[in-house]
Amino acid sequence: PTNVGILAAEVYFPSTYVDQAEMEKANGVSSGKYTIGLGQLEMAFTGDREDINSIALTALAGLLEKFSIDPNDIGRLEVGTETLIDKSKSTKTVLMSLLGDNQDVEGVTTVNACYGGTAALLNSIAWIESSAWDGRYAIVVAADIAVYAEGPARPTGGCGAVAVLIGPDAPLAVNACARTTHACDVWDFFKPDMSSEYPRVDGALSQSCYLRAIDDCYSRFADKKERSTDAAAATAAPYTAESADHFLFHSPYNKLVQKSYARLFFTDARRCSAAGRPLPPHLAPLEPWLDAPLEDTYNDVKLAAALKGVAAAAYKARVAPGCVLSQRIGNTYTASVFANIACLVDREGAALDGARVAVFSYGSGALATLYELVGRAPTSTAAGFTLARMQASLALDERLAAREKLTAEDLSAALAARAAAHDAAPFAPAYLPQRLFPGTFYLAEVRTDATRRYARV
Ligand code: ACO
Repeated sequence: PTNVGILAAEVYFPSTYVDQAEMEKANGVSSGKYTIGLGQLEMAFTGDREDINSIALTALAGLLEKFSIDPNDIGRLEVGTETLIDKSKSTKTVLMSLLGDNQDVEGVTTVNACYGGTAALLNSIAWIESSAWDGRYAIVVAADIAVYAEGPARPTGGCGAVAVLIGPDAPLAVNACARTTHACDVWDFFKPDMSSEYPRVDGALSQSCYLRAIDDCYSRFADKKERSTDAAAATAAPYTAESADHFLFHSPYNKLVQKSYARLFFTDARRCSAAGRPLPPHLAPLEPWLDAPLEDTYNDVKLAAALKGVAAAAYKARVAPGCVLSQRIGNTYTASVFANIACLVDREGAALDGARVAVFSYGSGALATLYELVGRAPTSTAAGFTLARMQASLALDERLAAREKLTAEDLSAALAARAAAHDAAPFAPAYLPQRLFPGTFYLAEVRTDATRRYARV
C-alpha cells in the first residue's frame, strides 16, 4: 500500500465554552493576559456528564456515521489519551461497543501526555504498511479533557476528541521519508496524583522543553529533507521555515505556537551560518545570536522579539489558518495536533491538493515528532474519501457557533463537579452540560461496582 494517511476526520468538542476575555475579568488579571498573552479566545469545558470514554465514543460514532463506514471494515482501532479514569480497562475497549459484531480489531490505548494520539497514528500507519495488514482500515481516536487547578494554567485547559480513518491512497498522506523524533527525560508536566485530574506543571520548564524539542526535530528534519533521495520528498534549495505550505503545532495555547514557528527561522539562520552560506536579508536581525549557546536562547526576550518580527508575515500565511479551532476550544492534549489538521482541512479543503503540511506533535515528559502530510487527490475515486468531502463534513464554524457561552463561575462549578465525581461510585452525574449536541454520548451512571453506563442524546 502507498500514500497511507488520513482518509476522513471527525472532531468533537463540548457544547459549552467560556470566553477568555470574560475569564480575565473574573480572575482579576490584566486585560489581554489570556487573549493576547496566551493568544486564546475561548475555552471548551464540560461538567460531570462527560468523561474520556463518552467524548471518544461521540467522535468515533460521528466518524462512522458521517462517512458511512461499515464497522466490519475496521481492522485496527487505537486511542491516544492522557485522561485516565481506569488504570486497566482502556478506552479502546469501551469503543468496541460501536463496532457491532466485529471483534477482530487490533490496537489499544496509548497513554502519554499530549503525544499518545501521534503514537497511535504512527502505529496504525506501520500496521497498514506491514506484512500483517489484512486490507482493512485503521481508526485513531485522540481525546482529552484538559483541566488545571486554579491559577495561571487554568486558562490553558480545553476539551475535545478527534477520530481519523487511516488507509492507503489517502487525501492526506503521511510522508514516511521525512520524520524526526525528540525523546528525553524531563519533569515538565506530569500527573502523579491518581485522586485528581489535575497535573503538576512547571509552566516555564514545559515551554523551554517544547522549544528545545522543536529546535531538535526541525533541524534534523531539514537535514533529512535536503539529503532525501526520494524525488517527491527532496528539496533542491535549503529547507526553510517557508518550504512547507503549512505548519501545524501541538497547541497548548497559541502564543507558544507563534514562538515555536518563529524558532524555525532561528534554526534556518544558524543552519545557514554553519553551512557557510550568506544569511538571507530577512534573517539579518538574527545575526547577533548566530553563535550564542543554544541553551542561552530559550529565555532571551530580545531574541524572541526579533524572531516575532522575522516570522510575522509567514506565520499569518502558513500557520494561522490551522490555529482557529485550537484558539476557540483550548488545549485538547493528544487531540490538539489532530484538531489543527482538521481545522486546516476545514479552511482549505481541496486547495490542499499538492500542499505539504509539516506537523509537530509535543508531549511532556517528553516525546515529540515532526512529520509531513501531503495533500493529494486519491488515485481511485471508488472509496470516495477526498479533501472536499472531509471539509464539507467538518463544518467547524457552524458547530462552534452552535455552542452555549457560559461564565467563568460556571467553569469553576463544572470543574468542582468533575473533581467530586472523580473516583466516585455509585455516582449519578448532575452538573453541566444540560444541553448536549444531538448525537453526544454521555455518562448515564457509575454503578456501585464502578462500572460505567453510557447513553446517547
Ligand atoms: N496583555 C498582553 N500580554 C500579557 C498580558 C497582558 N495584559 N499579561 C501577561 N502577558 C503576557 C506575558 O508577557 C507573557 O508573554 P511572553 O510569553 O511573550 O513572555 C505571557 O502573557 C504569559 O504570561 P506569564 O506571566 O509569562 O505566564 P503565566 O504565569 O500567565 O503562565 C503558562 C503561562 C506558563 C503558559 C501557564 O498558563 C501554564 O503553566 N500552562 C500549562 C503548561 C503548558 O501548557 N505548557 C505548554 C507545553 S506542555 C502542554 O502542552 C501541557
